[in-house]
Order: sequence, then C-alpha cells, then structure tokens
Amino acid sequence: MITFSDRLQALPGYPLAEIPTIKRRLIESGMDVIDLGAGDNDTPPPAIVVEAMRSALGNPALSKYGFQQGLLEFRQAASRWVERRFGFHFDPVTETLPLIGSKEGLSHLPLAVINPGDVAIVPEPGYQAYLGGALLAGAVPHIVPLRPEHDFLLELDTLPPDVLRRARIVFVNYPNNPTAAVATREYLERTVAACRRHGILLAYDNAYCDLTFDGYRAPSIFEVDGAREVAIEFFSLSKSFSMTGWRIGFAVGRPELVSALTRVKSYVDTGPFLAIQKAGVVALDHAEAIVAPIRAELERRRDAGVAALRAAGFTLEAPKAAMYLWVPLPAGVPSGPFARRTLEETGALVMAGSGFGPAGEGFFRIALTVSPERITEAVGRIGGMLDRVQRGVLAATP
Ligand SMILES: Cc1ncc(COP(=O)(O)O)c(C=O)c1O
Repeated sequence: MITFSDRLQALPGYPLAEIPTIKRRLIESGMDVIDLGAGDNDTPPPAIVVEAMRSALGNPALSKYGFQQGLLEFRQAASRWVERRFGFHFDPVTETLPLIGSKEGLSHLPLAVINPGDVAIVPEPGYQAYLGGALLAGAVPHIVPLRPEHDFLLELDTLPPDVLRRARIVFVNYPNNPTAAVATREYLERTVAACRRHGILLAYDNAYCDLTFDGYRAPSIFEVDGAREVAIEFFSLSKSFSMTGWRIGFAVGRPELVSALTRVKSYVDTGPFLAIQKAGVVALDHAEAIVAPIRAELERRRDAGVAALRAAGFTLEAPKAAMYLWVPLPAGVPSGPFARRTLEETGALVMAGSGFGPAGEGFFRIALTVSPERITEAVGRIGGMLDRVQRGVLAATP
C-alpha cells in the first residue's frame, strides 16, 4: 500500500483543478461558456516574439540543456528591462535568474530558507503557489487574511511576536491577485523595515507590475532603501506579454539570495527551454511597445466589467492594476455555490472567493480575459443569478 506524505495531504484542493472538466461538459452540452476563471488573457502572444521563437527553433544549440545559467542574453535582457523600468541595476550573471514561469521560482524559494517548524507568512486570499510552496517545504504556514478595510494589505507589524520570530519568509504581491489591490510606498517601506528587523526573506511577487491603469505606476520593492538586504523580486512574462503557456519569468536580488534559489533549482529542474529564453529577449527588449496595447485593452475590459457590475447591483471600486475584478457578494451569499450555479446555469465562469481560502469568502473574482462585449454579456448573466439569489432561489436550493 502506498501512503502519501503529510505534506501532500496538507495541500488544499487547487481552486482551478476541477473547472476544465465542468467547462468541457457544459460546452459539449451546447452551452455558451464565457471563461473569466484563470488569469489567462485571450490576446495572442506578440508576433515578433512568435517569430523569434520560430527562428530559435531552427538553431540546434538552443535545443540543448539550458542549466541554471540559461542564456546569458536572456539575463542581460531581463537586467536591461529592470533598469529601464525601475532605474536600478542587477547584475545579469549573479543577480538575475531565469525561471520556468515565476510560479516555479516562488514555490521553490521556501526550500532555500525553511527548516522544519519555521513559519512562512502567507496572504489569504492569495496566489496558491505561496501556500503550496511553503507546505511542500515543511513550513508552518501563518495565514494572514487580507481585508478590504485594510486595503487588502498584509501588515507584518500586526502579527504576533512569536510568529515574526519564527518566520523565515513572507510572500507579498502587489498589484495583487486576486484583490487587484496596490501598495503604497509607505506600505513597502514598513514591510521592508519589518523584514529587516525580524530577518524575514521578502518574496516580492510583481507579476502584474505592468498591467496598470489610469496612469498608476506599480513600484518595485527595490525602490525602498535597504530592500536588497532582505528581498528577492519575481517578474513574469506571462501576463503583460500574453505568454502564459510559454513558462518564462525571472527573479532578481542580491547574489546570495539568487544563488540560494539557483541551488535548489539545480536539483529539480534544468531551466527554461533556451529557445523560449531567446524569444523572451525579444519580448523584454520590446516591452514598452508590446505591453501598451495589452494594457489599453485590459483597461477597456476593466471599464466594461465595472460598469456592468454596478448596473447589475454590485458595489465595487475600479481597480488600478492587475487583470481582475474582486467583487463583493451581498452578505450571506456563499461564493462557492454562487460561482458553481452561475457556471452551471448561465455558462459564466468566475472564481469563488472561497477558492482562495476562507478569507476570500464573500467575494468572487472575474479575470478580464475576454473582450469588453463578452465581459458585459457574462456580467449580465451573473447579475441575473444575483437577482435570483436575492429573491431566495439560491438559498432554497440544496
Ligand atoms: C500573483 C501571481 N504571481 C505569479 C503568477 C505566476 O505566473 P507565471 O505564469 O509567471 O508562473 C501568477 C499567475 O496567475 C499570479 O497571479
């Protein structure tokens, strides 16, 4: 008999895991499904990046193992992009690390700092890889609920002293998935200060830094003095370049932190496909031109979604960044049954807030992954479901 590890059993169900099966069944039954579930934009990858990939595939040298060093050219392009975008330099060789998507780096990082019984501080709701990576490394997760009344900020100074003493790592993500919250400069300063005081590694996940609206500019954690001592920052080509399936991202930080993650990775993977790194160079070098239309389209989708939701009776602020609407449900409406029935009965697929952990209850998430017209159509259906809920239909149904 095979028995499974406590770590495996501690992993909560992945919220997106069962959705493809339900979706397929509904499509097969003829339903028009509008998928606002995963953060996976319907916009195609940039043509020049696809072209670079095509030609990279013709180069047999790029079909070899990449190893952790990967393609120096990719590290240089990543380092150049950071410098253009934020105005500071990370050495391409010792301070920049290619990743098989930022999820891979984020989830492996705890293995570099956690000893049995150490605490990992994890936001909830939050990106699932933080909790998963912490549990797989044997950490004791300390879950911090992100609350609307605190602008969905993870405040280290409010945590019990014992937790801060035992904590080795904290995951911080702004612009935030799923809440779309953004961080102020003061917030980042107090977070860096707390990490320095308590010797906590700050894993700063900046996957959405370029998906910002209304002129808002998302900062890097390294804009805060002293951040290099404690922080490692993760960037992704997935969202801002419409390259989710390519699996390419990178981390930057001081050499000791980057080499700790490199060492872990050298035992579990052999780096991203070199041809993808080659194409990634083109993406990063043309970032400004590539990202502008993606960002503009997301802003149109955000506007359409917010307007339609308000018309349907939901109350929400227009988010400044990321690619999500985090929508409060009326009191007493459980997000899981609401999302499931909305999908089954209307074909509009949204994520239940509870899928991001108990602290996500009371909300659902819309990913801005389809056209404004389709978002408006989906929200109309969601609004119809809300109507029925408020008339008691949902409550009366088992
Ligand atoms: C907050 C956050 N970080 C990281 C990622 C992972 O991105 P990647 O595709 O680079 O692994 C996601 C993906 O949804 C995310 O929402």
